[in-house]
Amino acid sequence: MKIVVIGGNGLVGRNVVRRLRLHGHDVSAASRVSGVDITTGAGLAEALAGAEVVVDASNSPERDGPASFEFFKAGGTHLLAAETAAEVKHHVSLSVVGTGRLDDSPYLHGKAVQERMIRESSIPFTILHATQFYEFLLEIVERSVYEQTLRLSPAYIQPVASADVAASLAELAVRPPKNDMVEIAGPDRERLSEIIQRFLTEIEAPYDVVTDTLAPYFGARLDDESLLPKEGARICSTGFQAWLGQSEYWGAGW
Ligand SMILES: NC(=O)c1ccc[n+]([C@@H]2O[C@H](COP(=O)([O-])OP(=O)(O)OC[C@H]3O[C@@H](n4cnc5c(N)ncnc54)[C@H](OP(=O)(O)O)[C@@H]3O)[C@@H](O)[C@H]2O)c1
Repeated sequence: MKIVVIGGNGLVGRNVVRRLRLHGHDVSAASRVSGVDITTGAGLAEALAGAEVVVDASNSPERDGPASFEFFKAGGTHLLAAETAAEVKHHVSLSVVGTGRLDDSPYLHGKAVQERMIRESSIPFTILHATQFYEFLLEIVERSVYEQTLRLSPAYIQPVASADVAASLAELAVRPPKNDMVEIAGPDRERLSEIIQRFLTEIEAPYDVVTDTLAPYFGARLDDESLLPKEGARICSTGFQAWLGQSEYWGAGW
């Protein structure tokens, strides 16, 4: 099967490309590095010629603010138009648990707008909503730190290993379209402020976590449930400690 992975050199995308190739599919990775820009449409017609399935694992270089909203809106518009022209049979999109209920975040609002476009297009689709990746915890730290302190919401999260998400995305790509959304999460539910504190302790980072129910999360105000998957989500087996133990952070120190 000819499959194009948009964002095929990103954290999840490159793992999806590798898995699909191992299963014998004809897979190409498309992104700006290979001359494909979904925000302008450049290179898309050539990249999608003959593709049956498109997996969108791209991500906005900006994680917050109007640019992140525009990325998903413009990216969705150009990608879906090019897929329609190329008569793609299945659009598979990776998105975030909580999309559709956290529109104060420009990033997640952009995701919600893009998902609406996917549902309204004529292309059969599957949307995978994933919880936060363990790999993303460091980015949360970088964005929340002020001097030596991090102000973090005590909302619950149920993070997941990006490799488990990639395995699921690759599997969904070769199955029939669900024309619906599927959720995926890790095995353990924990408060955001607590798991970040644990992570910082493990990697000996010299920061203090202050729990603050009003602390914004990428522009959005969270309640306890905002970032949790619903019942029926796929639950992966890799827990935080198991992931940390084989990650590049283990034993590296700060
Ligand atoms: N991080 C999390 O915790 C989390 C949780 C749930 C879901 N997700 C979702 O997972 C998806 C993938 O995340 P990730 O962390 O794997 O991403 P990533 O490592 O940041 O990779 C982003 C990819 O997008 C490509 N890209 C960026 N701008 C592009 C453009 N204009 N046109 C085409 N390609 C472009 C990049 O390649 P070039 O630089 O070569 O263009 C790269 O391949 C995102 O949609 C994200 O919302 C993330």
